[in-house]
Amino acid sequence: MPLVPMRLVLDHAAANNYGVAALNVNNMEQIQAIMEAARETDSPVIIQASRGARSYAQENYLRHLMIAASELYPEIPVVMHQDHGNCPSTCYSAIRNGFTSVMMDGSLLEDAKSPAPYDYNVKVTREVVQVAHALNVSVEGEVGCLGTVGQHKEEAPKAASTVPHDLDLEQEPEPEMAHLTDPDEAESFVKETQVDALAVAIGTSHGAYKFTAQPTGEVLKMALIEEIHRRLPNTHLVMHGSSSVPQDLQDIINKNGGKIKQTWGVPVEEIQRGIKHGVRKINVDTDNRLAMTAAIREVFMKSPDKFDPRDYLKPAREAMKKICLARMVQFGQAGNASKMRAAKLF
Ligand code: G3H
Ligand code: 13P
Ligand code: ZN
Repeated sequence: MPLVPMRLVLDHAAANNYGVAALNVNNMEQIQAIMEAARETDSPVIIQASRGARSYAQENYLRHLMIAASELYPEIPVVMHQDHGNCPSTCYSAIRNGFTSVMMDGSLLEDAKSPAPYDYNVKVTREVVQVAHALNVSVEGEVGCLGTVGQHKEEAPKAASTVPHDLDLEQEPEPEMAHLTDPDEAESFVKETQVDALAVAIGTSHGAYKFTAQPTGEVLKMALIEEIHRRLPNTHLVMHGSSSVPQDLQDIINKNGGKIKQTWGVPVEEIQRGIKHGVRKINVDTDNRLAMTAAIREVFMKSPDKFDPRDYLKPAREAMKKICLARMVQFGQAGNASKMRAAKLF
């Protein structure tokens, strides 16, 4: 049963200098897309479900879909990860449902909106680490708060602003200030909590609206990653909000009746730079959402007579597989599932 703790995959990634895409799922087609891309590229994978995804799919469906994936693709090590757990009980219910890794996001309070005090973050994260590690489950923590936005009206590229996680990612929110990760706090947080992986806020945000132009180092602070990695060379760093928001997908959606305002994501080369400096887990959801939506819109526009869901879900699944496959190659995880197997890691 190749459902493995995240630590196993990230340790291998660190030893072999690659990054691993953490891909969000809500349904069967998305899991199938990821697993097919993983097989084709021989990649270990991290599949993650948000609280919203768990409630959309329902625990039993999700658990059985993941078991199906591990049965159908025994050659692929799969991590099942809780994305943005808002409190210890969310993490514990994920563990009860077979997740092999959890994120305790104590950078925000339980409402998943308000920035939390550092001491609260340490307390809840440390508690989850103690329980999870006893059960061979990995834990990701976060210091600093991600932005929510990005789309300001001025010409210079602007970074995402603040915080709430459960806002509508399809809307363009009001700008606020982001809370970038303080390297001192990152250092003491890892020492105090013993997390397996640390998410850092460097100017990215969730959703499509990240930057108002191709981001510069002023707004996408890769130098901060380098500084944190210098101080914590043995900690696996995580980049959230790492979709690249491809222009061609924006164009296809808009050509087929969609309304995406011009926006910029995180360039893949910047992620590759991060991977050279300790980034091991890269969260990508929006790119897959865009790819599926672009494919479905095309079918609806070209063939308004179609009404069998398979006529649009198949192209959507194929479009998501294409993005996953590209990221697996670009992040360097391709070719590593068989190496992990040869090393008898799973
Ligand atoms: O963290 C953000 C992911 O894209 C999950 O989003 O909460 O809408 O499922 P969600
Ligand atoms: P994107 O919205 O950039 O895909 O980020 C997803 C994410 O960080 C999930 O935790
Ligand atoms: Zn995230």
